[in-house]
Amino acid sequence: MAEIISGKLIAEGVVATVKRGAAELLEAAGVTPGLAVVIVGEDPASQVYVASKSRMAKECGFHSVQHTLAAGTGEDELVALVEKLNADPAIHGILVQLPLPAHIDSGRIIQTISPEKDVDGFHFINVGKLGTGELGTAFVPCTPAGCMILIERARGKDLSGLNAVVVGRSNIVGKPVANLLLAANCTVTIAHSRTRDLPALARTADILVAAVGRPEMVKGDWIKPGATVIDVGVNRIPAPERGEGKTRLVGDVAFREAAESAGAITPVPGGVGPMTIAMLMASTLVSACRSAGRTPPQF
Ligand code: GUN
Repeated sequence: MAEIISGKLIAEGVVATVKRGAAELLEAAGVTPGLAVVIVGEDPASQVYVASKSRMAKECGFHSVQHTLAAGTGEDELVALVEKLNADPAIHGILVQLPLPAHIDSGRIIQTISPEKDVDGFHFINVGKLGTGELGTAFVPCTPAGCMILIERARGKDLSGLNAVVVGRSNIVGKPVANLLLAANCTVTIAHSRTRDLPALARTADILVAAVGRPEMVKGDWIKPGATVIDVGVNRIPAPERGEGKTRLVGDVAFREAAESAGAITPVPGGVGPMTIAMLMASTLVSACRSAGRTPPQF
């Protein structure tokens, strides 16, 4: 049976390091990390995410501000808010929660965020830095950064020469996690909906990252014995066994089957999920340290 990688515990460790780092930065430089989270509209899932980001920022000792804008807010108004936050020296991280309402061009908003405050790592400058391996000054998207910490905790820091297969090619997870694995000297393959014989390809993976958003798509017999399996999927499916109308969360990996072959595997929930918010806190601290000319802690 596989080791279950507890993202919850590892995320708690990251948050503890952030709290210590924030206290030290205040002591040494008089700087409190500031995070601004912006949400437009009333999507209930987004509201839950944003509230937990703001709450965690406070818990870390940050200056935490949340801007909640009406669903009908105009694009120019949102651009003006981002520009104001760009110019605010008390703010080191800006996160505009996605998805935005359809009448707003998300691309324009993301490219308006100052790359030095883009803690989501979505600005072209940060995407380019990740692609060229300039990790010392980049911001890396939070979920991929969290995946790498989980992989390193399972396998150690040296991933050289390992075969990594990333299932999914999104800009938020698939592509950045593939770039991080490449920067860590893995041999990386990105698989997607047009990939031929995905099960056979998956069986070559020492590290398998599933980020497709299809419930339990990755089966137990796709897993190489001893592989490290990182399940980024969060899918809500009907659970009639729990009662009428009940649901449960599952990942992109058929967990029970996969755990029989894997060396280590993340659960859903409690795997990658808690790491995303922890890495947002880490990136905000890193941004504040950079702006104060101080070396950030290692995560
Ligand atoms: N919505 C879902 N995930 C994310 C994320 O990582 N960043 C932002 N800004 N919005 C999201």
